[in-house]
Amino acid sequence: MTRKFFVGGNWKMNGNRKALTELVCSINKAKINDQTEVVFGVPAPYLECIRKALDSKFEVAAQNCYKVEKGAFTGEISPAMIKDCGGKWVILGHSERRHVFGECDELIGQKVAHALEAGLGVIACIGEKLDEREGGCTEEVVFAQTKVIAENVKNWEKVVLAYEPVWAIGTGKTATPQQAQEIHEKIRKWLKDHVSEDVSKCCRIIYGGSVTAGTCAELACMGDVDGFLVGGASLKPEFVDIINAKQ
Ligand code: 13P
Repeated sequence: MTRKFFVGGNWKMNGNRKALTELVCSINKAKINDQTEVVFGVPAPYLECIRKALDSKFEVAAQNCYKVEKGAFTGEISPAMIKDCGGKWVILGHSERRHVFGECDELIGQKVAHALEAGLGVIACIGEKLDEREGGCTEEVVFAQTKVIAENVKNWEKVVLAYEPVWAIGTGKTATPQQAQEIHEKIRKWLKDHVSEDVSKCCRIIYGGSVTAGTCAELACMGDVDGFLVGGASLKPEFVDIINAKQ
């Protein structure tokens, strides 16, 4: 059993048409490890133009979507629209959606269910806040988030779990390889105990939180770290080094 290394770039609400197109043109020309699956999390207005600019070996993700196909939901986008723009993936449950926009577990679960039914792959994010880690609640928080996601997944083939400790996101404080491995291993054990042994062995669990060209190689050596979800560094040329981190 091998889990294909998976690297997502989450551009968040950054860039513009010109800068992002130039970025992907340079990544298209770079030497990329073909054993790594690479997905770009693109701001919704640029999904289509970035899909067109990117080499076909890369995929495109939206950074969020709503839980139904269409309707009177001003400001939302649906999985059907993402697919229509060439997107194959969606990032759901990101900590910024949870903590800046107040998305609750229940809504995230519903979005996961609908996105999968609509045929998108889902990068489902989980992770504890600093006070939760310091209060010794990391596992409780991460397992509760994972449980709601798991309850809404029928087919795990198109699910990647992204463990992103909130205290590591955008702070420059990357989790140590040991900290990441410890939680990834526990999430995998949770999957084994609550979903199935097969899913625990096949599901990719990727790490996010201040991953850089400098920190990625050591993290990539950890047995249960199957890739990365990268914010800030995915907007820089060093993203190529992160994509190629797995030796
Ligand atoms: P940074 O890599 O900027 O810390 O962001 C991580 C993240 O939130 C990816 O989804």
